[in-house]
Amino acid sequence: MHCLFLLGSSRRDGNTERLARVAASSLPANAVHEWLRLDDHPLPEFVDVRHGEGFGPLGATARTLADATLACTDLVFAAPTYWYTVPASTKRYLDHWSHWMRVPELDFKARMAKKTLWVITVNSDDLGAPSTSSDPLLATMRMTADYLSMKVGGVLVGHANRPGDVEQDHVALEQAKSFFGAK
Ligand SMILES: Cc1cc2nc3c(=O)[nH]c(=O)nc-3n(C[C@H](O)[C@H](O)[C@H](O)COP(=O)(O)O)c2cc1C
Repeated sequence: MHCLFLLGSSRRDGNTERLARVAASSLPANAVHEWLRLDDHPLPEFVDVRHGEGFGPLGATARTLADATLACTDLVFAAPTYWYTVPASTKRYLDHWSHWMRVPELDFKARMAKKTLWVITVNSDDLGAPSTSSDPLLATMRMTADYLSMKVGGVLVGHANRPGDVEQDHVALEQAKSFFGAK
C-alpha cells in the first residue's frame, strides 16, 4: 500500500491534517506514506484549451503532482470544508486532472482506475448535531472517483473550527484510529 496524502488546508497543522495523521497511524506497518501540501506545490491557473490548441507538456509542479498521484495505490484527500466543498488548491489540482487525462503517455484514466480514493475533511458544524456542510464536498469526491472508476475506501468527517479543536471530536478521532485498518 502506497498512500499519498494531499493536504488541502491553507494553514499548517490544522484540524484536517491532525485527523489525517491519526488516520495514518491505522495504516499497515509496511505501508508507504507520502505527504504533499498542495499549497507548497502551487499549480498554475487551469485554462481549458481542450477545444482549442490543446494542452502542452506538463510544467514542473504538475509533473511532480502527476507523478506522485500515479505512483500511489491510495489517494487520500485531506481537505477541510471550505464553502461546503474543497479548498481552491484541491479543486485546482482536480482541474488539472483534465489535462493529465489527455496526455497519452501518462495513461491517466487506466492507471487511476486501479487506485482507491479516501476522503478526510473537517467542517465547523456543531459537535453532536446533524452535519450536512460537507455533503457537496463528499458528493464531489464520490462522483470524481466514480468518473475515474476508482474505489472509495472510506470517508471521515470531523467537526472543529480553531486549530486543535478536533481533539474534542472524540467520535471522529475514534473513527480515525481504525480508518485504514478497515480497508
Ligand atoms: C474559507 C473558509 C470557508 C469555510 N467554509 C465552511 C463551510 O462551508 N462549512 C463549515 O462547516 N465550515 C467552514 N469553514 C470552517 C472550516 O471548515 C474549519 O475551520 C476547519 O476546522 C478548517 O480545517 P483546517 O483546520 O484543517 O484548516 C470554512 C473555513 C474557511 C477558512
